[in-house]
Amino acid sequence: MPFKPANNIQDLQYFGEFGGVNPSISDSSTYTFLSAKTMFDTFEGNADGCYLYSRHSSPSNLYLGEALAAMEGTETANVSASGMGAITPVLLQLCSAGDHIVSSRTIYGGTYAFLKNFIPRFNIETSFVDITDLEKVEAAITKNTKVLYCESVSNPLLEVADIRGLSQIAKKHGLKLVVDNTFSPLSISPAVLGAHVVIHSLTKFINGSSDTVGGVVCGTQEFINNLRNVNDGASMLLGSTMDSLRAASILKNLRTLHIRMQQHSKNASYLAEKFEADGLKTVYPGLKSHPSYELFKSMMNPQYGFGGMLTIDVGTLAKANELMELMQKRNLGYLAVSLGFYKTLFSAPGSSTSSEIPEHEQKAMGLTDGLIRFSIGLDADIERTYQMMRQCMVELNVL
Ligand SMILES: Cc1ncc(COP(=O)(O)O)c(C=O)c1O
Repeated sequence: MPFKPANNIQDLQYFGEFGGVNPSISDSSTYTFLSAKTMFDTFEGNADGCYLYSRHSSPSNLYLGEALAAMEGTETANVSASGMGAITPVLLQLCSAGDHIVSSRTIYGGTYAFLKNFIPRFNIETSFVDITDLEKVEAAITKNTKVLYCESVSNPLLEVADIRGLSQIAKKHGLKLVVDNTFSPLSISPAVLGAHVVIHSLTKFINGSSDTVGGVVCGTQEFINNLRNVNDGASMLLGSTMDSLRAASILKNLRTLHIRMQQHSKNASYLAEKFEADGLKTVYPGLKSHPSYELFKSMMNPQYGFGGMLTIDVGTLAKANELMELMQKRNLGYLAVSLGFYKTLFSAPGSSTSSEIPEHEQKAMGLTDGLIRFSIGLDADIERTYQMMRQCMVELNVL
């Protein structure tokens, strides 16, 4: 049976307290108990359905978590105040001093900075590898390795991880495969392909309106319970808790994600094909020229396409900046970091979202100065957008 993530979301039926069509928002940080014994049992984790304190769990956050777990096909999930607020507790929960992580070298700059600069303080070391080369991945594993970490589609180079292959390596060596699926919600379902833990920055496509940050960890009940444990759970103790009002608004936006992803993918695919035909160096997983086109196809839930992200290389940072400024002036999108918005967003990752990665390492991984990352919006008439973008490129001698 093919996995149908959008059906799983659609089939969730939540009623509000007064019969509302949306679940009621839990507007409390703390909860009363009719008996002191139940309070004690709840602290011990033995009172299902009872709420204790909203840093631990709250009805609104549980509704959103349940919906995201349904989308990813995991037992359950825990939402957090940001994507980094999901990633960092997962790694700290899975690793102790002396442990080792094998990570893709092309990942979001903040995750890279955490692995490279922050957790070595706790004696947790990371080897960064070319995630598309499974032999190199396996060769980097040591006796201390606990985690294999990657993004399904990497930020910003749009490399595609072979999640089935990585999960076999993880299984063989007794590792946890942790996959950040922020760039490809609905299109790729990492847990179905063998990942143990799936993370999203909800800030991006899932929320889709660039009005909040948020994150989620999807995994087994046991792992999520561990993260929430009052004594040693990294999510509970580090305290990156989502607010109930935000959880409620993200849940409403999640209900339209399937339609939005289809439009993001349709528009990005159209532009990628046009840019490539114009002779621009274009990277998009849906182009046959992408080295992992077949791999993506073999993993995807086809109706959601190859996603809304593409890159072009215009040669130099100066040219990239000129082009982005002109496109913003012509109202084709915003010169801004982040992604998954209804309007197109563009930025030069080398000097922004990946600036945490030292220049020589950027070069080694193919992150060039003239690279522009596009998160393509929900434009109703993408042909018109293309013509206007093309005009900007012609005026600046990019084409
Ligand atoms: C792939 C990816 N993962 C994680 C994050 C971090 O998420 P947040 O900004 O919500 O903390 C980002 C942010 O840009 C991202 O692009």
